Formats: sequence, structure tokens, C-alpha cells
Amino acid sequence: MNILIIGGGGREHVITKYIARNPKATKIYALPGNAGISQFAECVNISAEDINGMISFAQSHAIDFAIVAPDDPLALGAVDRLEEIGIKCFGPSQKAAQIESSKVFAKDLMRKHNIPTAKYEVFTDIDAALSYVAISDCPIVIKADGLAKGKGVTVAENFQQAREAIMSCMKAKTFGKSGERIIIEECLTGPEVTVLAFTDGKTIVPMISSMDHKRAYDGNKGPNTGGMGVIAPNPYYTPQIADECMKRIFLPTIAAMNEEGHKFKGCLYFGLMLTKDGPKVIEYNCRFGDPEAEAVLPLMESDLLEVMLAVSDERLCGYGATPLSASRVPPTLGGMSSAVRQEGVKFRKGASCCVVCASSGYPGHYLTGYPIDFGDADDMAGVEIFHAGTKSEGGKILTAGGRVLAVNAVGDDAESSRALAYEAVSRISFEGMRYRSDIGAN
Ligand code: AMP
Ligand code: GLY
Repeated sequence: MNILIIGGGGREHVITKYIARNPKATKIYALPGNAGISQFAECVNISAEDINGMISFAQSHAIDFAIVAPDDPLALGAVDRLEEIGIKCFGPSQKAAQIESSKVFAKDLMRKHNIPTAKYEVFTDIDAALSYVAISDCPIVIKADGLAKGKGVTVAENFQQAREAIMSCMKAKTFGKSGERIIIEECLTGPEVTVLAFTDGKTIVPMISSMDHKRAYDGNKGPNTGGMGVIAPNPYYTPQIADECMKRIFLPTIAAMNEEGHKFKGCLYFGLMLTKDGPKVIEYNCRFGDPEAEAVLPLMESDLLEVMLAVSDERLCGYGATPLSASRVPPTLGGMSSAVRQEGVKFRKGASCCVVCASSGYPGHYLTGYPIDFGDADDMAGVEIFHAGTKSEGGKILTAGGRVLAVNAVGDDAESSRALAYEAVSRISFEGMRYRSDIGAN
């Protein structure tokens, strides 16, 4: 089977590594890939957002299966275009990807289908938005509607900050078209949980929960980033909460997408907050989280490629469980999903801790091109080093991004995985390397 992986970060590295274990994967190409991915795949210098380039490459290389991992190509309709030329894909259609690419779409979906989320209003007019925050309580949350590389959300502590966020989106157009429409929403409090779930639009199989650490510095200080580290499972996510999420959030979301005519197939990311009024959705993403994937997939025992193929063929419920009718998702699906989880998609006991090594200055300006010294970290049992932003040059591996490496360790429990991950990180170095020292500590 010729497989095409779209993307070139840590998430694509872990996916490629695990896909490569399946003997069906006779040839893997990555667009554009990175130095780590090149161990398992032929990396081709076509950007993940170059949809025309991707299509002609796929046509001329007899691709059998494509995995579209990042948000941008999904929002640009990569899956629709690949399917048009007969290529089977893992990932949602452009319409289904709106669940991430338009926060207004996601919020309206939740309101219409009674899925718990923060109260909100939508604005396209600056004055109306400013008048609204002037009479609202702070903190209050301002969100650009469209994709903004994880930077489109401001939790404003006071009116001044809210005003600045509105002006930055709508007047200065910091996020371009993405900020022409904004959401202003109620600020929720509580622990945050990420749940990644496989879904084929008929059933849903949640993976082990995780906790991202989005702020740049220790103690959850500093600007938001793509994610500085992850622990899995999330210590706040009890089996009772998981059951509640299945009934009130996961299944209703899949049913809602079907009802809207946008069946979601792929990995659906639920960004949740556990509030005193129960779990609520902070955001959906239409793909694996990064670095959540680097922590969660190492705990998965089932074969990733087989599960992805089952998602694509809409036989996830047959993957270890009884098939069910393809029509509207029945309310009994909760029980069905547990069956799939136990018999079909298996996760090992234990925990992961993933620490991101970033370039000095990230998420602001940073320099690249520095050689990476991995020490003997690569040889440590239980440790996997995923390349987030690297390139090979003259036999050396150089830094090539803001987030450079995602160092994951699997242990019997959270504490041992954490100790192992930090031991590995201490053996790695590059000019300006920076990481949070409190991943999983709180
Ligand atoms: P998002 O890109 O929507 O995940 O937002 C980024 C971060 O902003 C989230 O991980 C939360 O920490 C925070 N956030 C977003 N929406 C809210 C909200 N309604 N209340 C409190 N914090 C929020
Ligand atoms: N780590 C957060 C995200 O992938 O959106």
C-alpha cells in the first residue's frame, strides 16, 4: 500500500512511525515531512497547504491511502480533492472541518443541538462588539472566528484587554479574514481536558484523555503556544466524567454533524473544561492535537493504520464490536462505543509525559538552523523523540521551527513517565533550547 502523509511536525512523526509498523505500508511519502519523519517515509518538498501540488503528486505516485493531519489542508478541502481522484483518506471533508475552521459554525452547532458550551454572541461590527463588552463582566473571552495558528483567543481580564483584542482582530486584522467575525463568550473556569476520538460518523471511540500545557512558561504564564507539553491520561478525567461526556457531548456532536449533512470522519478533538456545572466544550479541532498525539498514540496498543482504514471505510463499529445501522446515531451508542474501546482499539495501562523543546523566543520571533545534540536520549527505554521542527543538512539535524522536538516518555504511572521524560530532555541540547519544567507537575 502506498501511503501519503500530509504535514511535517511532531504529530506527523508519531503517526508515520506507527503506520510504518504495519507491513501493509510498503511505501510512505510525507509532504513535506521533516528529519525525523524521513526515517520512515520519503519526504517530498511540497507544502501541506499546496493542494494542487499534493493532488498531482498523489496522481503520479499511485497513492492508495492519504492521511491529512494538519488543520490548514483540511480546511482547504484536501480530503475532498483527494477523494475526487479516488484516493481513500483519513480526515474530514472541508464541510466537516468547519467544526474547527469556523468557531461560529462550532458554537452555532452546539447551541442548536444542546451541547454544553460557554454562552456567546457573534459580532461582525466593531462598535457593537465594543458596546457589548462595555456592559459585560470580566474576565471575558474574545475569539477570532477562523484559523489563527492557535493565537486567535484572548481571555481578557478587563475591558481594556477586551478592547485591544477586538481592535486587533477587526481593525488591525492581525488574523486577516479569520478575525473579520468574532465571538465574545463567557469565561469558564475549571481543569482543561483534551479527548481525541476516532469516528467514522457512525460510532466514536475516545482515546486516552490528556492535558495540554498551552502557555509558554512554567506556572501557566506567558502567551499561548501550540502546546508545550502533555500528560496522558488526564488526572481530572474520571470514568464518571467520561460517561457524562460520551452522553452529553461526544455522541450528540457526531449526531449533530450527521444531521447538518456534514458527516465527520477522522480524529475529532474535544477541548473540554470541567466546570462546576459539568463538562463543557471549549473548542473542537478536526484532527489530532499536537503535541497530544505524541503522548496519546504511544499508549495505543492497536494498530494505528488498521484503525485509520476502519474509520475511512466506516467500519469502526465492526472493529471489535457489533455493527449498527448507518442512519441517525441511536442513543444506545454509548454502550457500543465502550465495546469498541475494549475489544477493538486498545490502550495500555500506564502514562505518558511529553515535553516540548522549543527555540528561544517561541511563540514570538526565534532563530533556526542550530545543530541538535541528542546525547544518548534516543536510546533510553520508554523514550521516543518526535521531531516537530527539524531538517537534515550536511549529515546533521538542525532546528527548523519554534517547537523543535516533542520528547515523550511512557511509564507505569504519571510520576515515572514525568521523571523519564525530563531525564531524556536533560540529555538533549541545542542553541537557545527552552522547555517548561512543570509538565504534569500540577
Ligand atoms: P481555544 O483555541 O479555543 O482552545 O482557546 C485557547 C485557550 O483559551 C483554551 O485552551 C482555554 O485555556 C482558553 N479559553 C478559550 N475559551 C475559553 C472560555 N470560554 N473560558 C475560559 N478559557 C477559555
Ligand atoms: N495542542 C493543541 C492543538 O493541537 O490544537
